[in-house]
Amino acid sequence: MLEDIKKKMNDLIDKINKASYEYYTLDEPTITDQEYDDMYNELLRLEEKYPKLKRNDSPTNRVGGEALEKFEKVAHETPMLSFDDIFNSEEIEVFDARIKKQVKNPTYTLEPKMDGLSGSLIYRDGILERAATRGDGVIGENITTNVKTIRSVPLKLTEKINIEVRGEIYMSKLSFQKVNIEKKKNGEKEFANPRNAAAGSVRQLDSKITAQRGLDFMAYFIPNPDKYGLKSQHESLEYLKKLGFKTNYKLNSLAHNSKEIEKYIEDLGIKRSNLPFPIDGVVLKVDSLEDEAKLGFTARVPRWGIAYKFPALEVLTTLKEIKFTVGRTGKITPNAIFDPVHVDGSLVSKATLHNEDYCLQKDVRVGDVISIRKAGDVIPEVVEVKLDRRKDNLPPFKMIENCPICNTKLIKKDAIHYCPNSNCPARHTEGLIHFASRDAMNIDGIGESIIQDFYNMGYLKKITDFYHFNEYQEQLMTLEGFGEKSISNMIQSIENSKKNSLEKLIFALGIPHVGAKTAKILAIKYKTMDNFSKTSLEELTNIPDIGETIAQSIVSYFSNENNKQLIKELKRLGLNMKYTKGETQESEEFNGKTFVLTGSLEIFTRNEAEEKIEALGGKTSSSVSKKTAAVIVGANPGSKYTKAKELKIPIWTEQEFQEKLANSSEK
Ligand code: IVH
Repeated sequence: MLEDIKKKMNDLIDKINKASYEYYTLDEPTITDQEYDDMYNELLRLEEKYPKLKRNDSPTNRVGGEALEKFEKVAHETPMLSFDDIFNSEEIEVFDARIKKQVKNPTYTLEPKMDGLSGSLIYRDGILERAATRGDGVIGENITTNVKTIRSVPLKLTEKINIEVRGEIYMSKLSFQKVNIEKKKNGEKEFANPRNAAAGSVRQLDSKITAQRGLDFMAYFIPNPDKYGLKSQHESLEYLKKLGFKTNYKLNSLAHNSKEIEKYIEDLGIKRSNLPFPIDGVVLKVDSLEDEAKLGFTARVPRWGIAYKFPALEVLTTLKEIKFTVGRTGKITPNAIFDPVHVDGSLVSKATLHNEDYCLQKDVRVGDVISIRKAGDVIPEVVEVKLDRRKDNLPPFKMIENCPICNTKLIKKDAIHYCPNSNCPARHTEGLIHFASRDAMNIDGIGESIIQDFYNMGYLKKITDFYHFNEYQEQLMTLEGFGEKSISNMIQSIENSKKNSLEKLIFALGIPHVGAKTAKILAIKYKTMDNFSKTSLEELTNIPDIGETIAQSIVSYFSNENNKQLIKELKRLGLNMKYTKGETQESEEFNGKTFVLTGSLEIFTRNEAEEKIEALGGKTSSSVSKKTAAVIVGANPGSKYTKAKELKIPIWTEQEFQEKLANSSEK
């Protein structure tokens, strides 16, 4: 009887795995979603009834398991290396020539360079046993539970072998958009690009969250392929496909010289924006394993391969409108609003045009064809106007003279236009958004759109209104789109914000020219809001790092009766007015050391990262030198990263940084 049930369960697993493979790996479904769900639910029911019979490669494991405390470190069996990067055709020719000096008539495999993060999967007797991140190449992190949720990762191979498979964990463009829509809805910070989204999702301690993110896996490499009788990279790729992995078999190709390589790059560049997944270049590998062995490795990288990276992507679109927005200081910014276009995996429809001079210099006109690219891979920018495609009679750009919101006549100061009306509604909402933002009071769950809505409905007109929300909690709960839970979470985070240390409040007030860093210097110096508000021009200019402009702005802020009233009122509402971060907890890892941050961080904002370092007795600097203790790198690091490598300064990923912080504050 039990044997029958076991057989039935095995049968269901086989059928579900086959259907999953066809759907997720081959993209060629053969059964309906309903049929799939029925089999899946039947298996789930049997596993619940007979837990002893549940197989550890069961597809029901893909929903995620128990949340972890932290990721366990694991050593790679063979180091997980990456290739050197190149950026243009000369470098391709140099590479080709270098290879040809050592091997005769090489064939190259050409593969899209997937834009995610590399992962190592170890199978024992054909069953997925362990998955790890690359880490520093020698030690990675055990992410097995999370990787099991990825549908295109086979939990069981078609052969009962022991093998390590490497490939890219990535997020499709569609999943990326879905995740960001969800994040935006919840008032959370959106992922900047699919790579960050994949990295952030795979490093969730709660694998149930990973399971919902729609990650994918593309296999591209077998270490020690000779063990399986393979003679070339293209045979490795074929073998991976046969074992049940998703490979890029439709796009991978072979070439023999730089001309063919360049042709492939050009063709792939054209296909790029229509591919469902993000790629950022082409990986070139010498195909024959015998040749690879001849070429070997340098101290850091294999000599038998290289990664060509595409130039920053530019996309053409049409400028539909130049829309002027008003910031919290009254600053007017012209923005380019254009037909939505995909740039490197995300859909963009606007970019800043900074100010009048910028618009005149670029000579942008509504109706122009413009090219857009992502600056630093994150913020879209207008690269240029395609003048050769300009239609006749497009009127030249003209700066507005009155505020687009309150119609007050604008004033101009140092090339920037301002709305001088301190009661301008736009300035109010921007001020409220700033007040609640992460580096300011960090009121979780209240994002831009909620603030706009509450402002329009009259619940939130000024800063102090945040702290009256609890009085009409019940009314808020009846609003469409807000549940009991979201409102009570909101009220809780408003309550928590009262305890913030002084520097957050100083920054949140939005005093012109007082950024987060300055706010911190001021909080440390004055310790209480009382002291700070009574300061003088002379006293302020004596503080290192505080210049005339900032000093004047602060004095003028506190000479305004409305601002004085606001602070009084905030105090009465119970906000902390003291600097409470003072006591630094010294830690060996951070104390007295200098750190440099580079690239776009995912887990922390820049300011948070700096705060954490300082709280542990460390310092941050903007340039790398021999004295730098470590460089913390986010996505797309710049020259600081290269310099750190040159100077052999320790390089920490953001995750490693997070762990070191955790270890340091535990002590
Ligand atoms: S092969 C020894 N193949 O790009 C290097 N890598 O430097 C073995 N990548 O870090 C990697 N697509 O994360 C290889 N088809 C592909 C790839 C690929 C993306 C990533 C990988 C690696 C970097 C190459």
